[in-house]
Amino acid sequence: MEPTQAGQVVVIGSGLIGRSWAMVFAGGGFRVKLYDVVQQQITSALEYISKEMKELEKSGMLKGTLNAEKQLSLISGCTDLKTAVDGAMFIQECTPEKLELKKKIFGQLDLIVNNDVILSSSTSTLLPTKLFAGLKHVKQCIVAHPVNPPYYVPLVELVPHPETEPSTVDKTYALMKKIGQSPVKLTKEIDGFVLNRLQYAVISEAWRLVGEGVISPADLDLVMSDGLGMRYAFIGPLETMHLNAEGMTNYCERYREGMIHVLKTFGPVPDFSGEIEQQISQAMSERTPADPEHLNARRAWRDECLMGLAKLKKQMKSN
Ligand code: NAI
Repeated sequence: MEPTQAGQVVVIGSGLIGRSWAMVFAGGGFRVKLYDVVQQQITSALEYISKEMKELEKSGMLKGTLNAEKQLSLISGCTDLKTAVDGAMFIQECTPEKLELKKKIFGQLDLIVNNDVILSSSTSTLLPTKLFAGLKHVKQCIVAHPVNPPYYVPLVELVPHPETEPSTVDKTYALMKKIGQSPVKLTKEIDGFVLNRLQYAVISEAWRLVGEGVISPADLDLVMSDGLGMRYAFIGPLETMHLNAEGMTNYCERYREGMIHVLKTFGPVPDFSGEIEQQISQAMSERTPADPEHLNARRAWRDECLMGLAKLKKQMKSN
């Protein structure tokens, strides 16, 4: 069995993303301190993690080489920030998406951390120049944006502040690889980072197509889940181009004009409200009523599918 790793990781905020990060780090063999201001959140996170890890072990999907019991023994809760970060080598912040709150937390950390620890944020929308402005330890700060649920979807977008040291990026990249995630480096910040820019481009055209009556909401989703998404789970849009012709240059020769023609017909940014919103909301609610019971059942089914896909991807890579 792989030994546990030297060094301790702190996860700040034990909600949806924090508990998932804790599991991923423990899977990589790291000791994890789960810090929150709400004791009940920590208690429920630890219960959730224990239940999840045991189920993952049974289904053969537990990450890493340590068994569930050992991984669980690596995670402990803490409600005192100073105690939590004492001796930490990496801190992953996972508090609610509010700039002022996050700035306050990084400000507190700035006063108590040493010059080696990496301060990382899970933010999905806040830019590093806003988040880390004025911090003494800005060189050690980075955004490591995960995808929900991080346990099954390994991508992590690494976004530096202009003053982030290259070694902070490199160390975070190496750590993410070590715990089995799939990091990508952005060289500079940009609104939406990369994943959400791609996602919003798709959502926006989906909205326009339904709004113009070209296709029903249910069929639109099928275009992705039974069409584009099938290949995107294995190869990206650029490699798709390369493989769908005799290489990229040939693809551009063949399809350049057609792509530009279609792209010029795209409409303006939708306002995501009004009649189209009602129509799409109604169609989505027919399949999954928007109450916690139905939404949670569908989310559990989605996570099971993602787990199966993760298993398949692992098999395909080892072939
Ligand atoms: P959440 O609301 O589930 O959890 C937030 C946790 O932070 C709660 O346990 C809360 O008690 C705790 N908290 C509040 N104030 C605190 C403080 N001062 N110190 C320590 N803990 C505090 O939020 P969620 O969904 O886990 O999101 C966390 C971060 O992850 C956000 O920045 C979000 O944008 C990002 N993210 C979320 C994704 C998602 O799909 N939910 C996906 C990728 C990133």
